[in-house]
Amino acid sequence: MKLFDVYPLYPIELVKAQGSTVWAKDGQEYLDLYGGHAVISIGHSHPHYVAKMTEQLHNIGFYSNSIIISGQEELAEKLGRVSGYPSYQLFLTNSGAESNENALKLASFHTGRKKVVAFTKAFHGRTAGAVAVTDNPSIVAPINDTSHVSFHPFNQLEGLEQVITEETAAVIVEGIQGVGGIQVASTPFLQALRTRCDETGAQLILDSVQCGYGRSGKFFSHQFADIHPDMMTTAKGMGNGFPIGGVLIAPHIQASYGLLGTTFGGNHLACTAANAVLDIIQEEKLMENATKQGDYLMRELAGISGIKEVRGRGLMIGIELESPVGPVRDALLNTHHIFCGYAGKHTLRLLPSLGMDQAIADRFLESLTKTLKA
Ligand SMILES: Cc1ncc(COP(=O)(O)O)c(C=O)c1O
Repeated sequence: MKLFDVYPLYPIELVKAQGSTVWAKDGQEYLDLYGGHAVISIGHSHPHYVAKMTEQLHNIGFYSNSIIISGQEELAEKLGRVSGYPSYQLFLTNSGAESNENALKLASFHTGRKKVVAFTKAFHGRTAGAVAVTDNPSIVAPINDTSHVSFHPFNQLEGLEQVITEETAAVIVEGIQGVGGIQVASTPFLQALRTRCDETGAQLILDSVQCGYGRSGKFFSHQFADIHPDMMTTAKGMGNGFPIGGVLIAPHIQASYGLLGTTFGGNHLACTAANAVLDIIQEEKLMENATKQGDYLMRELAGISGIKEVRGRGLMIGIELESPVGPVRDALLNTHHIFCGYAGKHTLRLLPSLGMDQAIADRFLESLTKTLKA
């Protein structure tokens, strides 16, 4: 059997990783400033994470949601406390798309409505509901194309009253658009969404899959706007590589047996991974570090010629180049041995471990300066 060929691949196989460093099979060392799409939050193979996962695997790796899994309770308590949402409820999933899928479903169950408002350049995942609210027709199959979704221009306040109505079940928005090119949702925009949702009863979902979990310097990037969504969705950095996602659900939304469900979501190993991540985020003050390193990077990047704009918050950074991003990304990887991401045709995307230090930032800044001069 052959693999279903949907991913263009770099000819690199990684065999070892530690912190922000990864090593290929041929011995080449790389600096990882992308974390496999924002997944590596506390650093690769963090010793606390490895110890906890190993211990858990020796005890019990999996059982389904038909028995008590105390790691889930521990995670709900810790996540509520660290994120600043202790009164919210937690539903555990396996991925970002699945988290959004469940949040949309819950909004629809709660309101009895079908319509959803999403935004231009949004990316919410590839499963049926998540892809329907994603603004990219090329990945929407005919079966996922629904008339229930309206797209409104991101960050535009004008027209929100017309598009969000008493028929709207949910408004879904990223606090910082990732795939859309690191576009930060403005405070007036997020506050206007909150107000309009309150007026109409629509449920406000903040997709925090990429911008959450401390990456912005706050646990959730919408906390800069001082709003409280009805639901937040998470995944990526939550398990530092072990698949786990979650929906944080406001107290007014009530659970009932059978309303949502999953076989794998919240299993023993997944909860151990997520609990270890939250331990390290707190112990190593990674949100503070994300702010410090992010501010430093953004300040220094602003002075490099060949850069049109620097966007983002904390360690979620978009560098809009004057030239196409492809050759720059390739040179960073092949000549300077640095993994970065991209978004669109001109934006380089940095999503490093929240534990990165200034020496790493300086190595990147020097390499990028040389690349843009070449
Ligand atoms: C904002 C956002 N939402 C949802 C998803 C989908 O997550 P997953 O690939 O885990 O399904 C992504 C993935 O890139 C994302 O960036």
